[in-house]
Amino acid sequence: NGWTAEKIFNDVMSYTYDDLICLPGFINFPLSDVDLVSNLTNDISLKIPIISSPMDTVTEHKMSISMALSGGLGIIHNNMSIENQIEQVKKVKRFENGFIFDPYTFSPEHTIADVLETKHKVGYKSYPITIDGKVGSKLVGTITGVDYLYLTDITKKIKDIMTTDVLTGKYPITLSDANKVLCEEKKSILPIVNDNFELLALVCRNDVHKNKIYPYASKCPNKQLIVGASVSTRESDLERVKQLIKNSIDIICIDSSQGNSIYQLDLIKNIKQNYPNMPLIGGNVVTSEQAKNIIDAGADVLRIGMGSGSICSTQDVCAVGRAQGTAVYHVSNYAHTRNIKTIADGGIKNSGNIVKALSLGADFVMLGNLLAATEESCTDYYFENNVRLKIYRGMGSMEAMYNKKFNSKSRYLVDEHSNVYRNHHNEEIKVAQGVSASLVDKGSVLNLIPHLVTAVKHGFQSMGIKNISELHRKLYSGDLKFDIRSFNTIKEGQISENLIFNNKKYR
Ligand code: XMP
Repeated sequence: NGWTAEKIFNDVMSYTYDDLICLPGFINFPLSDVDLVSNLTNDISLKIPIISSPMDTVTEHKMSISMALSGGLGIIHNNMSIENQIEQVKKVKRFENGFIFDPYTFSPEHTIADVLETKHKVGYKSYPITIDGKVGSKLVGTITGVDYLYLTDITKKIKDIMTTDVLTGKYPITLSDANKVLCEEKKSILPIVNDNFELLALVCRNDVHKNKIYPYASKCPNKQLIVGASVSTRESDLERVKQLIKNSIDIICIDSSQGNSIYQLDLIKNIKQNYPNMPLIGGNVVTSEQAKNIIDAGADVLRIGMGSGSICSTQDVCAVGRAQGTAVYHVSNYAHTRNIKTIADGGIKNSGNIVKALSLGADFVMLGNLLAATEESCTDYYFENNVRLKIYRGMGSMEAMYNKKFNSKSRYLVDEHSNVYRNHHNEEIKVAQGVSASLVDKGSVLNLIPHLVTAVKHGFQSMGIKNISELHRKLYSGDLKFDIRSFNTIKEGQISENLIFNNKKYR
């Protein structure tokens, strides 16, 4: 009954997640027995097999922190200066549950209009005020909603209305002591200062209920959160690698749309020669031939996917790539013979797609779209027709590739120095391999990930499988069975089109 992956994928057709369905198995255990732990390298084991994509609208420090707290991993993108990327890494490494080390601050010279603009963007009402508006400078006051929300003159300066008699916590203070002060004194924020009264961090009353223990948190032996960073094959990125390693990065991901290039192989060899213990994710690949070269060069993990991402136009523009189900099966099948782990990157639309990616051999999934427009994704909210949105764009989109200051050209091997083809106006020809769009606000990753993980566990239980090792054992032994779906069976598996939803909450 059903077909093995080996039979399905050793055929002329290629398949993506939606083309397949996993067949059920026998259940003799409760949902709580399903364990999604997965080893990325010999030293890095994650409680959940989910990684956030190094895209410049998805992963900076906030995403990395929430991903690590949830048991996964964030990989900080490299579309920024080396200094900025290092600062992002440091923020993750410095994170202590409940303390905000990079709070929004203003100087006394800022106006209420400035505060309102930030409030509109990020939603917070209370802010610490420092002498020059920077964290690390002398704290001179605080401003809360009641101070300014009822003012009619928004050109007023903060110095005219701020509270200068400020209740503070002295560093080092424990989170529970800080929370106690906030509750007893009925304050909304507690600035944490050092002996010189310089602002080091902030604790917020709104966060008190969130300040739970995160039992799944991904931590390294020194108890800091685990974080990754991406680099490219620019000449200057050797220095980036050096700085990242100096700043305790846990894993480096070489970000390329087609990883089987002399540039990537040379970079991997170079890094491994100088830093043999630094774990490296290589890619992207979709065939076992590509995978072989990258593994031979020294990569520890492979990232799989070309043109399957939700914002990708590579397959249309370049006619190169592969259906993601087929790519994940073949590359993982080969990588596992070499004892190398894989990440299925791109095209994951829902929890069911995660189950399928893992069932086809992936050890992890990488998410862009699903994590974009969350509170933690690294773009600002904006409103359109009263809907709260955030931008999500491909790294191969015009905006990301041709940004003057920092851009992702090297991900697509666009050579700065080559004689580019020009049109009759002598303008450089620019080809995008992705698009830029917006997505509706999804709330916090800290809510989204537990939901996805629980849904994936339901999938495992239905297949009668308790963990990823067992899943892969059954995949390769042929005990795991799939069906290929026709267009109509895909439709049948989705909710009917004639339903009218009255209560969006239960959709
Ligand atoms: P999802 O489907 O999660 O995919 O949004 C995210 C992955 O897509 C890749 N990516 C791109 N691929 N053109 C491409 O062909 C692009 O502009 C682009 N931007 C991102 C990347 O692997 C990411 O993790």
